[in-house]
Amino acid sequence: MKVLGINGSPRGERSATLQLIAAVLEDAKEKGAEVDVVNLIDLDIRFRNACSACFQEGRCVEEDDFPELYTKIKAADGLVLGSPVYIDLITGQMKLLIDRMADGIQCQALSGKYGCSVSTSGDHAEQAVVTYLNHFLQMLGATPVGGVGVAIGRDQNALTRAEEDARELGKTLAEAILTQRRYPDIEAFHQRFQEKFKAVITGAKPEWPGDYEHWVDQVWVW
Ligand SMILES: Cc1cc2nc3c(=O)[nH]c(=O)nc-3n(C[C@H](O)[C@H](O)[C@H](O)COP(=O)(O)O)c2cc1C
Repeated sequence: MKVLGINGSPRGERSATLQLIAAVLEDAKEKGAEVDVVNLIDLDIRFRNACSACFQEGRCVEEDDFPELYTKIKAADGLVLGSPVYIDLITGQMKLLIDRMADGIQCQALSGKYGCSVSTSGDHAEQAVVTYLNHFLQMLGATPVGGVGVAIGRDQNALTRAEEDARELGKTLAEAILTQRRYPDIEAFHQRFQEKFKAVITGAKPEWPGDYEHWVDQVWVW
């Protein structure tokens, strides 16, 4: 069982959000997971120009650090996404990664995998970020098992308390992976999403042969 943490804070190793990710990973590791963490600020991940090559060829043509990270993401059984709140939303570093994975949504690239999300803020919007990151995981076909968000600006002990919740989250994540826990509401979302996208993919067949072939391989269209 592999669990990968991804930190969107530009503060890298000094990041409070990284502390929450590390707490999740710590307990996932106790449950037997092989864990790894990536600070997006250490990687060269560029914005793209909506060329759609990924929809056509099933891979990105940009020669930066994204393809290697994407391979790592797809090799993990569980993902822990983390971003601090920047002007009420996720950081630019995290959004760059998310936009580069648009094709992953169309191909439901994380189908069968589990995940969770964490966020820290000065004083607001951390729950909105957790909700957004978990929604992104769900759009990719993964099953989010929970999240931890904490405002740390006004309470010095808030982060330490949240680390306890993050450790619990790590246990839940590892157990969900080990037992392949079912979440009926999320399964229903995935089913609705797939129905909707089936029409898009079959309609877009000439422009997106890469994605269409993936759907045929998965026997989602035939
Ligand atoms: C550019 C910038 C924008 C921020 N915007 C918000 C915000 O909208 N709401 C908030 O509560 N905190 C905001 N903060 C504070 C951070 O979310 C907070 O310090 C967070 O814990 C930093 O996490 P990190 O150490 O993982 O980078 C902002 C900080 C920066 C540098």
